[in-house]
Amino acid sequence: MKNADKLDALAKEIMSGNDKGHYTIPTKGLYPYQWNWDSAFAAIGFAGISMDRAWIELETLMAAQWSDGMVPHIIFHTVDDSYFPGPDVWGGVGPVPSSGVTQPPVAATMARQLYLKDPQFSRDRADALFDGLLKWHRWFMDWRLDKGAVCVTHPWEAGRDNAPDWDGPMARIDPQGVGEYTRRDTAHVDSAMRPTKFDYDRYIWLVNMGNRLKWNQQALLKENPFRVADPTMTFILLRAQRDLLALGQDLGKDVGSIEADIRILEAGCQSLWNDATSAYDSRDAHTGEWANSISNASFLCWYAGIDKSEMRKAYDRIMKSCQFGVPSLDPDSDRFDARRYWRGPVWGIMNMMIAMGMQEHNMPQADELKNSTAGLISEHGFAEYFNPLDGAPAGGKSFTWTAAIWLAWASPNASKT
Ligand code: DGY
Repeated sequence: MKNADKLDALAKEIMSGNDKGHYTIPTKGLYPYQWNWDSAFAAIGFAGISMDRAWIELETLMAAQWSDGMVPHIIFHTVDDSYFPGPDVWGGVGPVPSSGVTQPPVAATMARQLYLKDPQFSRDRADALFDGLLKWHRWFMDWRLDKGAVCVTHPWEAGRDNAPDWDGPMARIDPQGVGEYTRRDTAHVDSAMRPTKFDYDRYIWLVNMGNRLKWNQQALLKENPFRVADPTMTFILLRAQRDLLALGQDLGKDVGSIEADIRILEAGCQSLWNDATSAYDSRDAHTGEWANSISNASFLCWYAGIDKSEMRKAYDRIMKSCQFGVPSLDPDSDRFDARRYWRGPVWGIMNMMIAMGMQEHNMPQADELKNSTAGLISEHGFAEYFNPLDGAPAGGKSFTWTAAIWLAWASPNASKT
């Protein structure tokens, strides 16, 4: 690619523009705080710039861990009026102001990537984070399993905020008493690219409920009408457990409990198999209903170490139907919306994880996906997400995680750094 060096420089500029010293914001205005999985991707983006800075990103994230083991999805290091809902609405009960839900646990996997890149430099830093990561993973195993699959208790936990996976459970929520509030996201981004008011009323209603219950997991288990077993969380946690196990073995830790957890999660993945769609899907843990959605999260199976011929077929079919993949929803679905956030657009971080899994299964699609993601970014910039039909950039601009996956994976220079 002609412009690789220029694009590398631009990606680094974006990362340093969003760098607050000990954590990185996803992008100015739209997301002015530290986000959990964004930071884990930022860490591998920093790895080619400064290993020290890369570890600091994960250390700041883990310093926000709650006493029960949960690592929150937003950490409010400062107050910033450009985002809603802020720390007062959430009422997080951790050591620093935070939200009350978590996010896909990619941190252990990215910590292992840092470790593999420079074991000598990384050993002590990885050692210091190991117990916290183990405790976070245990928290999922203690509070979030349904038939061995990991449940989300708020759509924001999966990171796929408005995915059709939640349509059924969200429609059953009556957001009474949610009152007036002012959204800030639509002041930064075209509302056609963002979740709807229907979604937001329910997002805020769920936040208010958690705040009222002081984010006590036992109480939430009883009261929360939203509990969905989901491929994002299940595949990502399974992968993270495998990486933590390997890291722990290298560091000489006791990893017996992780091995047992892996068996449980492997069974959990099978509980997400929907015969009707012949694909991995989300399942409402309260009603057992399927979402009937083939999403980019369904294709994280390989990342979790699980292969299915039906998933390979579905992948090839879907990739033929769009110019740039992987779309966040099957374009054949009547709920597909090429511009609206997680109902169609392509996300670079998902592509990188899907390709990592494909690579490990010796699938030629891994390199194709990498090259297509590189083409998408080089033509359309470091956007938050992209239209799969024409590549048009969407959402926030100058986005940390798109820059990070460029530097760590998509750039032709990535393997040289
Ligand atoms: C948002 O505010 O859009 C975020 O995705 C919540 O994490």
